[in-house]
Amino acid sequence: MQSPKRYAIVGLGSRSQMFSSALLKDYTEQGELVAFCDLNQTRMNYYNARYKERFGIADIPTFKSDEFDCMISQQRVDTVIVTTIDRTHHHYIIRALEMGCDVISEKPMTTDAEKCQQILDAVKRTGRKLTVTFNYRYSPRNSKVKELLQSGVIGEVISVHFEWLLDTVHGADYFRRWHRDKANSGGLMVHKSTHHFDLVNWWLDSTPQTVFGMGSLRFYGRENAEKRGVTEFYERAHGNPNAEGDPFALHLDKNEGLKKMYLEAEHEDGYIRDRSVFSDGISIEDDMSVLVRYNSGATMTYHLTAYSPWEGYRVAFNGTKGRLEYEVTENPYVSGSDKDTNRPDIRDAKEVDVHEPARILIRPLHSKPLQIEVTSDEGGHGGGDQRLLDDIFKPSDEVDPLGRAADHTSGAMSILTGIAANQSFATGMPVKVADLVQI
Ligand SMILES: NC(=O)c1ccc[n+]([C@@H]2O[C@H](COP(=O)([O-])OP(=O)(O)OC[C@H]3O[C@@H](n4cnc5c(N)ncnc54)[C@H](O)[C@@H]3O)[C@@H](O)[C@H]2O)c1
Repeated sequence: MQSPKRYAIVGLGSRSQMFSSALLKDYTEQGELVAFCDLNQTRMNYYNARYKERFGIADIPTFKSDEFDCMISQQRVDTVIVTTIDRTHHHYIIRALEMGCDVISEKPMTTDAEKCQQILDAVKRTGRKLTVTFNYRYSPRNSKVKELLQSGVIGEVISVHFEWLLDTVHGADYFRRWHRDKANSGGLMVHKSTHHFDLVNWWLDSTPQTVFGMGSLRFYGRENAEKRGVTEFYERAHGNPNAEGDPFALHLDKNEGLKKMYLEAEHEDGYIRDRSVFSDGISIEDDMSVLVRYNSGATMTYHLTAYSPWEGYRVAFNGTKGRLEYEVTENPYVSGSDKDTNRPDIRDAKEVDVHEPARILIRPLHSKPLQIEVTSDEGGHGGGDQRLLDDIFKPSDEVDPLGRAADHTSGAMSILTGIAANQSFATGMPVKVADLVQI
């Protein structure tokens, strides 16, 4: 039997939990977690205390970010898992590859074309393996769409219409912390849409060629709130009476985990987790429209809204033999308060509950529509997280007919649509993806 691979995790924020827990609980035969690295010691200590309580283990050795190289040599790390903030992914990916490790990186692989090129060059130069964790590919319903398109049931896909809605809980969270600065996240076009653009690349088995987009900040931010008549503002929720009763406020001290991970750790690095979404200093967009031409000849109209009353997505594929319509509800609505006092008074309207979590409909040409059975599993991202973990920690020898594992090229392709869109937002011109990087 092969000895377990030695893993280190860099970036001990909320996403790191999925990988740590998996290695400490479900994949102990395949992998050993041998080091944590972060610039914040309090957060690393918090996780060590938590895992000791949960799994009864001794402390995982911790290393500050400037001890990264030493950590790799000292702990004889085989694979580095990168879950830091997006702006820093390239730094750890490249250094780990250069030190002879394989890398598993959270999406987005990085935030701009220059860093993307540096990563691609490092993979080529070192011959090491870089995996980008696209959990959405693994959710059974998204896999079903891939399977149907692959089967040719709607023929050749000519166009795609894709709308993604982030609600005022999840969507708002990007406007409270580091993501709100475009330099940190590449904006939602890169940080968030990398998931969606990856799905389309994978569903169509193609890559983006030309991108044109328009994006703006119209809902969050002080200026927009002022236009809507808001007069009371605050910088952050913690310790501020104005935040009480604000449905957009995040109260760190009311959640033990958030309090320990962020509030009690901010003295080290000044990372404020609970900024008001209506404060100054936001440089990302909350409403984005994008038009893409793919190398297969297909086109896509895409829209991302970050202030929606419900969360989910709708995709329609128009093909030479028919149409595939796909709708997923991730959260049917966000309550504004205990009493939902915000209901508009509309004559003849009645409240409805949206029950159906996901629906796939095939509308063949000259035939009645067919509803496809959709399985949705428990667990993060429609059951995608668990399947992704299996694939990275316990890969099977069999070839996956759906090709779900994503390498550095898929990682690059998924961010290039968003990077091109950001450029297009700034210049008002279409952008050719081939002009951004050399794959
Ligand atoms: N695939 C998914 O569905 C999914 C979901 C959530 C987050 N993510 C990704 O995971 C990553 C982390 O997100 P999060 O929500 O956990 O953020 P977070 O803010 O909770 O954690 C980020 C961590 O990185 C650390 N960090 C920041 N700069 C660093 C540096 N220079 N060196 C070392 N550590 C540094 C911070 O101290 C913090 O502990 C992001 O890239 C995000 O896109 C992916």
